[in-house]
Amino acid sequence: MSRGAFISFEGSEGCGKSTQVKRLASRLERAGLRVLITREPGGTAIGEKIRDLLQFAPESFAMTPETELLLFEASRSQLVRETIRPALEQGAIVISDRFFDSTTVYQGVARKLEPDIVATLNNFAVGPDRPDLTIILEVDGATARARMLRRVRPVTVIDRMEQEPNEFYERVCEGYRELARREPARIRLLDGSGSPDEIEKEIWREVSGHFPALLASPKKEDAAGVR
Ligand code: TMP
Repeated sequence: MSRGAFISFEGSEGCGKSTQVKRLASRLERAGLRVLITREPGGTAIGEKIRDLLQFAPESFAMTPETELLLFEASRSQLVRETIRPALEQGAIVISDRFFDSTTVYQGVARKLEPDIVATLNNFAVGPDRPDLTIILEVDGATARARMLRRVRPVTVIDRMEQEPNEFYERVCEGYRELARREPARIRLLDGSGSPDEIEKEIWREVSGHFPALLASPKKEDAAGVR
């Protein structure tokens, strides 16, 4: 059986990637393809516990940047081996809501940890399983903040990662732009400020252009019909 395809979505908080992950998965399923959606941190039982520790546990406010980096990598190591690699080996399309580029940008650029150490740990965690295509949705700080504020959460639940000052998110956005410049063959930087329908169409154009053979499945006419 041939290997499936691996697509990751990236972007700052409030960029709309989680909505687009679901929309892309539906389109691919309508085209007759097997899709696995996952997310980082999380995606496995161990990873979801790590996610809680990283984002919501009251103790997390004392977390050092180094511990944070290692926990993201721990979650990723488990996800790759337990979920992503087996799914790719079975020919599925894996769509991940964030992957190792988040660590390069959030821990390496925004938190200013040593980029070489971040790259080494990313390599150790993922091994050979890298995304074939990465979509970064770019939004300006004001749009991101407005979308973040619209999220419904119990008042007692505070997301530690969302408490950073504006400069942190500006470094995140610049980090993604720089990454897209460095890896143009894998990474597409798309404008995330349009309507969800417009962005969905743009993403579909990128995905169908990147994987023409994959979409030449028995239900190809469905895939073409939604362009
Ligand atoms: P989200 O996926 O719901 O947007 O939240 C995940 C948060 O964790 C977000 O603030 C980005 C952050 N993050 C990192 O800082 N490094 C990482 O490697 C990953 C996967 C996420």
